[in-house]
Amino acid sequence: MTATILVIHGPNLNMLGRREPHIYGTTTLADINTALQQRGAEADVQVICIQSNHEGELVDAIQRHGWDAQGIIINPGALTHYGLSLRDALAMLSTPIIEVHLSNVYQREAFRHTSVIAPIARGQITGLGWRGYLLALEWLLTELRDT
Ligand code: DQA
Repeated sequence: MTATILVIHGPNLNMLGRREPHIYGTTTLADINTALQQRGAEADVQVICIQSNHEGELVDAIQRHGWDAQGIIINPGALTHYGLSLRDALAMLSTPIIEVHLSNVYQREAFRHTSVIAPIARGQITGLGWRGYLLALEWLLTELRDT
């Protein structure tokens, strides 16, 4: 059976490339998803990428795909800081969850220093730009190989 990794992008991440490029960089969401899917294909792993600006849609996607996934990479966007139904949807799963942020949230406004997702995530990558997603995938691939 081919393993599946679910990649979830929260609100406003569809605007990457145009959105505050001095903070988030110029790489688009399509570029990030392509890089993840290419790396996944090399490792014979299916990478499903989902983006929504609506918390309920992300919950629906997690309920639909999360149970069959062997790992989850999530950048919840601003939902990181208050998205409790997103957190509850993720908390149902036993698969490892990596929280990714393009910017270093701890160097920014105080409201970004709290994550309601971090307590149920296996780990967090923050401030390494779009490559943070690839690092998260690399960790999950290693984990898949070892288990
Ligand atoms: C972000 C950081 C969040 O605080 C912000 O609301 C985002 C993007 C990041 O990737 O750096 O939308 O998750």
